[in-house]
Amino acid sequence: MMTHQSLIEMKKKGEKIAALTAYDFPTAQILSESGVDVLLVGDSLGMVKLGYSSTVPVTMEEMLHHLLAVKRGISGPLLVADMPYLSYEIDLKEALRNAGRLIKEGGAQAVKIEGGGFVTDIVRELLKIHIPVMGHLGLTPQSVNQLGGYKVQGKEPKNAKKILEDAKALEKAGAFAVVLECVPSGLARKITASLSIPTIGIGAGVHCDGQILVSDDLWGISKGPSLKFVKRYARLRETMISSAREYLKDVRQGKFPGTEHSF
Ligand code: KIV
Repeated sequence: MMTHQSLIEMKKKGEKIAALTAYDFPTAQILSESGVDVLLVGDSLGMVKLGYSSTVPVTMEEMLHHLLAVKRGISGPLLVADMPYLSYEIDLKEALRNAGRLIKEGGAQAVKIEGGGFVTDIVRELLKIHIPVMGHLGLTPQSVNQLGGYKVQGKEPKNAKKILEDAKALEKAGAFAVVLECVPSGLARKITASLSIPTIGIGAGVHCDGQILVSDDLWGISKGPSLKFVKRYARLRETMISSAREYLKDVRQGKFPGTEHSF
């Protein structure tokens, strides 16, 4: 079974970490069977499964509901849960209680929190109550309103320096890994070389210690053209639509059910 320490060991040995998101029971089973290292119940849940236009509206209750479904299906990978927007920013006690719920009620082994700055204090406090933390820097989708859209971060030297400093501060505070989202690959390389904890990239180039993708993007379930950093390994959306259409046709033409499906 993977633990957060396993990821640090993997970095030491130069083994790449492969992570994916999951939001439900069958996906957790399928991805566990595939041998993925880390399953993240991301707050991308809001956009991918709940139809929200951003991750901002996602609540603790929604996260727990989906986390529990994943927990019931997972065997092997490290289970990490996102702390949703406003579950940790208001006060420290609330942050500790909410992270604790994801671990105690939801069965996560670790939580992920977006941002640097004050987040490093939360990381320190969470470690005191035995909760491992994964950081998340670069494009932090919960800050989409402040960032003015989903844009690559760290292109300007000042911003790049801040992301590097935040990454070092997260490591110093005790985070066991850092997700780097949509940052130039040169910056990701520099951060990866500066840290002894692993970097997990998404839209951050080839130099990170691991990669993460939204599983619906990998499978081609998501609607619309895929983002530059996504590689589609299947076209399940088309398969799902065409198979549903075949079923509709069969029902309408009286071809399903056949005698073999009848009692
Ligand atoms: O919410 C999420 O799925 C994430 C990953 C894309 C890193 O944060």
